Amino acid sequence: MRFQGKVAIVTGSGKGIGKSIIQKLVHEGAFVTVTDLNKETCEETAMEILQGGGKAIAVAGDVSKGEDARNIVEKTIEAYGKIDILVNNAGVLKDSRINDMEEDDWDKVIDVCLKGAFLCSKYASAYMVEQNYGKIINISSRAYLGNPGQANYSSAKAGIIGLTRSLSKELGKNNINVNSVAPGLIETDALKNHPKYEKIKELQKKDTPIRRIGLPEDVANAVLFFASDDAAYISGDILHVSGGRFG
Ligand SMILES: NC(=O)c1ccc[n+]([C@@H]2O[C@H](COP(=O)([O-])OP(=O)(O)OC[C@H]3O[C@@H](n4cnc5c(N)ncnc54)[C@H](O)[C@@H]3O)[C@@H](O)[C@H]2O)c1
Repeated sequence: MRFQGKVAIVTGSGKGIGKSIIQKLVHEGAFVTVTDLNKETCEETAMEILQGGGKAIAVAGDVSKGEDARNIVEKTIEAYGKIDILVNNAGVLKDSRINDMEEDDWDKVIDVCLKGAFLCSKYASAYMVEQNYGKIINISSRAYLGNPGQANYSSAKAGIIGLTRSLSKELGKNNINVNSVAPGLIETDALKNHPKYEKIKELQKKDTPIRRIGLPEDVANAVLFFASDDAAYISGDILHVSGGRFG
């Protein structure tokens, strides 16, 4: 029960990796804010947590909008009086080769993946500074190293590393740790429903030293480490959850 009495916000926690992170935080005692662009999955996840005996509120919103990011943080303060942990997990993909990439596809991915993390960190860190305690974990991706067809996403996820390093330097004196988790390919429902799922899975296995595809729980375990006081002297760092695959 590493998070007894702690309050956590996980963005994009209506499904996928974010949902796994928030469920694990609840399992170890955290009070949480489920937040997602999708109001339905946001409320469903919060309801599941409540029915399981956990404590959760649902605040739907778009992390790329300043007003929504502020609202997510303020609703958390109204409900619990503090914020100990922020996980910037919300993300989108709009893949294509550079010549086919529309300006909107570039903007969308940068806005959600990078600006969203900036906005939520900006509003949450103000309270963390007051408390002299906080953990910010930003979800990057192995793609920050570069991926063909993902110039927007790779740039956003590399930006997340810069954001993490900068915030760790700004906020360290306030006892706030800022770290990043960079997952490789993870088996979410979106991937399971992909028409080429079996083929992707086989290729991934072949290219990964630990011969399997990653699971949402693998990412959640790394996030919980950074969110815990076991990682109290680690900041500005990147934990790769990619089965040993980097290139
Ligand atoms: N799945 C993978 O293989 C993988 C690999 C590396 C990194 N990641 C990263 O992990 C994170 C979670 O990915 P996932 O696979 O669980 O994705 P997912 O699509 O299953 O879940 C993402 C969630 O974010 C929400 N979201 C989208 N735009 C939003 C916005 N503007 N404001 C608030 N919420 C928004 C979605 O509604 C969704 O619930 C993302 O940052 C992603 O880039 C995923």
